[in-house]
Amino acid sequence: MELEQLKQQFENVFKEKQGKEFFAPGRINLIGEHIDYNGGHVFPCAITIGTYGIASKREDSLIKLYSENFPELGIISFDVGDLDYRKEDAWTNYPKGMIRYLKENGHEIQHGMNILYYGTIPNGAGLSSSASIELLTGVILQNLFKLELEELELILIGKKVENQFIGVNSGIMDQFAIGKGQKNQAILLDCETLEYEMVPVELGHHKIVIMNTNKRRELADSKYNERRSECDQALKELQTKLKINSLGQLDEATFNENKFLLSAPNLVKRARHAVTENQRTLKAATSLKSGDLNGFGKLMNASHRSLRDDYEVSGIELDTLVESAWLQPGVIGARMTGAGFGGCGIAIVAEDQIDSFIKIVGASYNEKIGYQADFYIASISDGAKYL
Ligand code: GLA
Repeated sequence: MELEQLKQQFENVFKEKQGKEFFAPGRINLIGEHIDYNGGHVFPCAITIGTYGIASKREDSLIKLYSENFPELGIISFDVGDLDYRKEDAWTNYPKGMIRYLKENGHEIQHGMNILYYGTIPNGAGLSSSASIELLTGVILQNLFKLELEELELILIGKKVENQFIGVNSGIMDQFAIGKGQKNQAILLDCETLEYEMVPVELGHHKIVIMNTNKRRELADSKYNERRSECDQALKELQTKLKINSLGQLDEATFNENKFLLSAPNLVKRARHAVTENQRTLKAATSLKSGDLNGFGKLMNASHRSLRDDYEVSGIELDTLVESAWLQPGVIGARMTGAGFGGCGIAIVAEDQIDSFIKIVGASYNEKIGYQADFYIASISDGAKYL
């Protein structure tokens, strides 16, 4: 849907014309998976698939939210003074959480507002539609109420909404990528210190292809929290001897010398993923900076194997797409991206091979899994902003 149509739709839904336009991207992660909450490095970028918002301030205290993606839910409204989580408020709990925590941080939001949302991120695809809604709401509030704040505050509040309002124990990567993204740049982020470096994504005659399994990720949140507690447990056991604050502080040699401290084989596998993935991410950023695309691709492949075998978060759908991608001509590297258990993979593919890549990988997926995968070319975009 075009922006002009969205504005028209805003007028139809709210019977007024004064809406301002905003956009927040989704994200892919090039490498560095399940390591943000382990104090390691991640390497995500914002993408042009994302969420649009048309918004205006109201004179009363009502917040009225409408999504083009859930027209059957109609306008969901609540009072600016009543910001408790409610299951029946469905997707609007994300914006509600943002408003609540911004107010708790001392920002003045006393009026209501009308907001129309429209997301181009496929549902449950693991491209961070929820963080996109959070940051979109954040920039809308900042603009409408002239809030004095730094981007980082919105990023941290977005994470707090996930962790405390919604109840998913996720890390900082998604909100950071969506808040700080820049066109054609990936963000090498140290999740322990939040220091970061923008790295140009120069892929020559290659493009990033997003491969959507179309597998619903129902189990994802509980499995996600389970992996987090396994890592916490592994860290605790390693801390009986080592002076570390996170698994991200370990190099492979130190980990190997000390893994006998871990009480179960699963803990060894989870911690080994965290340690090796952090090292791979640092190496991958160096490869990209020096133009060593093949080196970068090999690290992507190794990342997928580690997520499949040690962290056990991929599953047959993602493995089928990624492993079939590895076999195709013109592919530099491929891996799952995001939390896993369904969702999307990414592959770096030579431009002139993309059509046949999609055909062959798509057909072999359909044959093995029994339904279709979708493919999109990723363009790397700016972070959340007023248009
Ligand atoms: C989800 C979480 C992120 C990160 C990834 C896995 O996207 O929201 O914080 O942990 O999974 O890398």
